[in-house]
Amino acid sequence: MGLKTKIGRLLATFRPDENLKNGLEFLATNEFHKAREIFKIIIEKSNSLKSKKTALAGLAATHMSFHNCGAEKSSEAIQSLKYATSVLPNEEDFWLALGDCWLDVKVSDFDRGDECKKAFQKVIQLNQSSADAYYGLGMLNQHLGDMQDARVCYERALDLRPGHATAAFRLWLLEGEPEKIKRNLYDYYDKEKTKTIIEIQMDSNRPLTPLELEAIRKTQKYGTVIFRQGIPSASISDLKKQTVEFATKYEFKKNTSIPFEDAPDELRKKIDEVIQKEIFQKIMPKVSFWSEKGWQSMPNPAKWIQYFPPKTGRATPFHLDHPVVCQESDWTTFWVALTDSGPGVAPSLGICRIPLYEPIDCEEQNIGRINPVPISKIMDFFGDAMVRPSFRAGDVACFGRYMLHCTVFDEAMKQERLSFDFRYVTGPARFSGVFAQFY
Ligand SMILES: [Fe+2]
Repeated sequence: MGLKTKIGRLLATFRPDENLKNGLEFLATNEFHKAREIFKIIIEKSNSLKSKKTALAGLAATHMSFHNCGAEKSSEAIQSLKYATSVLPNEEDFWLALGDCWLDVKVSDFDRGDECKKAFQKVIQLNQSSADAYYGLGMLNQHLGDMQDARVCYERALDLRPGHATAAFRLWLLEGEPEKIKRNLYDYYDKEKTKTIIEIQMDSNRPLTPLELEAIRKTQKYGTVIFRQGIPSASISDLKKQTVEFATKYEFKKNTSIPFEDAPDELRKKIDEVIQKEIFQKIMPKVSFWSEKGWQSMPNPAKWIQYFPPKTGRATPFHLDHPVVCQESDWTTFWVALTDSGPGVAPSLGICRIPLYEPIDCEEQNIGRINPVPISKIMDFFGDAMVRPSFRAGDVACFGRYMLHCTVFDEAMKQERLSFDFRYVTGPARFSGVFAQFY
């Protein structure tokens, strides 16, 4: 889940010795057993505190990798983080990661939450101003039915970080949905100077300025970046023609999404070429801190073509991608408009201007973790923050795993919408939910 530790920085700033390098390389090639052995040796033998920490982070990552690959349970990650906290008991990050890992397990494996509680309490002992630890404790208390304690924790998290949208949302629910809590959060983001949705005009003759690049990175993590004409019109018109031909004949099983595998070979090849040339090579390096450091981005298998007739009414509700398809932090969903869309034109993408720093699981998605909420409540609280940009064919929107998004319709829409979407993960986050707080 939303592990907010700064452990990832160790990897970003540390110049690894040869052994550690090998461990990380094994991690990069999915040879988890080998990576794990190397990290264990470093932890036991190294005299450098920094090496130990990085190796511990790597070890935790290997376990999370097993988890993500379905080979072992998330309890492995918990085991390695427990080990990490026993070797370095004053490292706030490991405790926070441990607590967060507990929040991520299935309800059936949760037991009484003793270890989860201990982890967050330890974080607070080491850092009294950790809004993340208070939020985690709030989640735990709520799950255990201690609503009064949960309220106090969410309030404390909000005192420490007034823009903590998920703390505000959960407090709002517990308090019987008072307008004031919602208003305070909206007021906060009305005054906030950092934009959560930015637009970049792509022009092949113009390199992006350092300021633009910085804005993109900041925004992409918790917000949305729209690259206007990210795909040149020549490529897009050809793609559009072929996709329309195919999508209008397609027999939809239940909604408006067409799994990429169902598309004909030729079309798939074309889309992949465009992704490779325009997105992977040109846009991806701009949105990922890690690709600049030489990490390869890995495609996630979730890839779709979307076809929305204007009157279908089959809207995708406000949701975030995190609990459904990913638990990685350096995650980017790309959404590519093949046709024009937006208010009054065609069914379009709605995005939230208030950033979330934690996931919210929906009851309807039935993920099986603690404290899920009905989608309707997410709409009630965050719906007023929904922004509906207009898109032109060739525009590319990208956002991270916590961005609330949906499909919107209005009566005036006359046209159909075609788009495709796909995902990439870069950096150590490919293996793990442990590394979360990147620059
Ligand atoms: Fe989505």
